[in-house]
Amino acid sequence: MFPIEEFNVKANDDTDREHEVQLELLQELCLALESGAKATTVHQILCNLIDFSEAHFMSEELLMRMKSYDDYEEHQDNHTQILDMLRDMAARNIAGDSALLKQSARDMLGFIKQHIATRDKRLADHVRLGL
Ligand SMILES: [Fe+2]
Ligand SMILES: [Fe+2]
Repeated sequence: MFPIEEFNVKANDDTDREHEVQLELLQELCLALESGAKATTVHQILCNLIDFSEAHFMSEELLMRMKSYDDYEEHQDNHTQILDMLRDMAARNIAGDSALLKQSARDMLGFIKQHIATRDKRLADHVRLGL
């Protein structure tokens, strides 16, 4: 296998694993909120999710830049939007304004799944084909 192909396969494998972790953290957040977990527990999960998502998005954005990817700006806008929403959820949780957090977490799970199935899938196909 040529090094560039190894790179492309590795990039996809790494991204798949990161998506699994991201979705697990989101699922953990949904379950914590739905089972009435304490605000400090919810805060810790949200911090983990935000930190992990920042690192994951940064690696995807680096990959897009290395590949001179044509959907870079809109894809990055999506990442910014997701992080803004997660930070807003963390702020609401800290402020004790948790009434709608359960629904926000479920909405976020749907939004990120959609992002992975569309924009991330398009990027993965682009990398897989070695473009
Ligand atoms: Fe992405
Ligand atoms: Fe992603």
